[in-house]
Amino acid sequence: MQYKLDTSSSPSSNKSDCIVVAIFANEKVASLGDAAQNLDKSSKGTLSTIIDSGDFNGSLEQTQMLYNLSGVDASRVLMLGCGDKQAFDTIALSKVVKTASKALKTSKIKSLSFYVTDSFGDDNLAQAATQIIIAHGDSDYQLLDYKSDAKDESTLEKVSVSMTDLAKCNKTDLEMSIENGAAIVEGMKLAKDLANHPGNVCTPTYIADQAEIVANDYANITVDVLEEKDMEKLGMGSFLSVSKGSDEPGKMIILEYKGAIDEHGDKDGNKAPIALVGKGITFDTGGISLKPGAAMDEMKFDMGGAAGMLGTLKACAEMQLNINVVVVLAAAENMPSARASKPGDIVTSMAGKTIEVLNTDAEGRLVLCDALTYVGKYKPEVIIDAATLTGACIIALGHHICAVLSNNDGLANDIIDAGNIINDRAWQLPMGDDYKKQLKSSFADLGNIGGRAAGTITAACFLAEFTKEYKWAHLDIAGTAWEGKDSTGRPVPLLSQYLINKAAKS
Ligand code: BES
Ligand code: MN
Ligand code: ZN
Repeated sequence: MQYKLDTSSSPSSNKSDCIVVAIFANEKVASLGDAAQNLDKSSKGTLSTIIDSGDFNGSLEQTQMLYNLSGVDASRVLMLGCGDKQAFDTIALSKVVKTASKALKTSKIKSLSFYVTDSFGDDNLAQAATQIIIAHGDSDYQLLDYKSDAKDESTLEKVSVSMTDLAKCNKTDLEMSIENGAAIVEGMKLAKDLANHPGNVCTPTYIADQAEIVANDYANITVDVLEEKDMEKLGMGSFLSVSKGSDEPGKMIILEYKGAIDEHGDKDGNKAPIALVGKGITFDTGGISLKPGAAMDEMKFDMGGAAGMLGTLKACAEMQLNINVVVVLAAAENMPSARASKPGDIVTSMAGKTIEVLNTDAEGRLVLCDALTYVGKYKPEVIIDAATLTGACIIALGHHICAVLSNNDGLANDIIDAGNIINDRAWQLPMGDDYKKQLKSSFADLGNIGGRAAGTITAACFLAEFTKEYKWAHLDIAGTAWEGKDSTGRPVPLLSQYLINKAAKS
């Protein structure tokens, strides 16, 4: 898909096959936005007739398609209800762009122009442009690999963010924000594909293969894969206690992106990287602490953290951000078998801490702790991990907002700010010694569970034991990584925006 900024023409002479125009709730014709005014005048009052008739009142997500308006070049005009004008923010914008995109899903159009930014001021116009691209890309996504007679029938080739008020536009900024949006869409697509593929296809080996494809696509990404025997040498007993129950070999996948440039404009390969660590459980049966059968299929999404980190890296490489990034994907399958860990087993992590595996279903933290220790060798500026770690997080925050837990409030705030900008939100949960105590084990340094209370927090406290020397934040994406039976591609937008902000500061 081609995503473009278009400031070239008035709506009525726009040559796109379809133009989408924002109409706010209960708007008087006189107060319509510039684009709607222009179309109304050119069509001798067609839009105002429809609004006056009461058939279309501009409520959020209402749509009305008009064909072959006289005086308008585009063969279709989609009137798009945007709700209360005062409340129209990037969240509402994303909603209505998705509504419009879905309404046009089967349409045989090649080009589409969105005139929906009239109400945004100069300060957040660029954010709005990015949001339009992400929302469109998000609803345009489908995985057709497994339906015998499904094929992609979309004819759409070009989507434009169109603006009538040329004075308002800083063209370079807007073009950049549209390119960023397109990069994020690419990253989300990769993350969604990975997560949507079933567990019998998307194995740890498959994730490693996809990582190699990403590395091959960009000159400044390298990849290295640690096999189980390598991990044995490194003493990653915690990771291996999970992967050993499966016939699928576990993999620790490391990608390095070098984009940092120093003050002289030279490559700065030694600049401390931002480390991104992802939970990559390609299927989580629970192991010997077997999960109940209902909805167990959804545990193919338990590699959503790894998918999100690889997607974020792809977006970062598309944007060629001026930072260094190291990504570690902890990929394993959690299966019950004669070789699987049993409740009560004690294992030794790479950091030397012993862990009593009281519940084999709390496996995410077991693979992550060794990945978090390993990534220390890169002396990262910050470490962020993402994991579908706890069911408790869904109970706490539902499916709309992910949890962020951190040993550094500044970092947590940077993540929350990025999420708010890009409409992929995070909410901070507390940590502390009272919670940490819940992880006490009678025999080992740590238990891998902390009881029913505050499950998301005690899981983060476990990880915190392995990141003490670093600025570290953990994202629990159990509620946000998928919706229904579909991957959402989150937290690719959130982390991409975090990296964009980082690059802007360096
Ligand atoms: N992958 C699950 C968490 C999960 C559950 C994500 C449901 C999304 C939906 C994780 O490995 C897990 O099983 N966690 C346990 C931890 C418990 C045993 C302490 C959980 O949340 O029940
Ligand atoms: Mn589990
Ligand atoms: Zn899991």
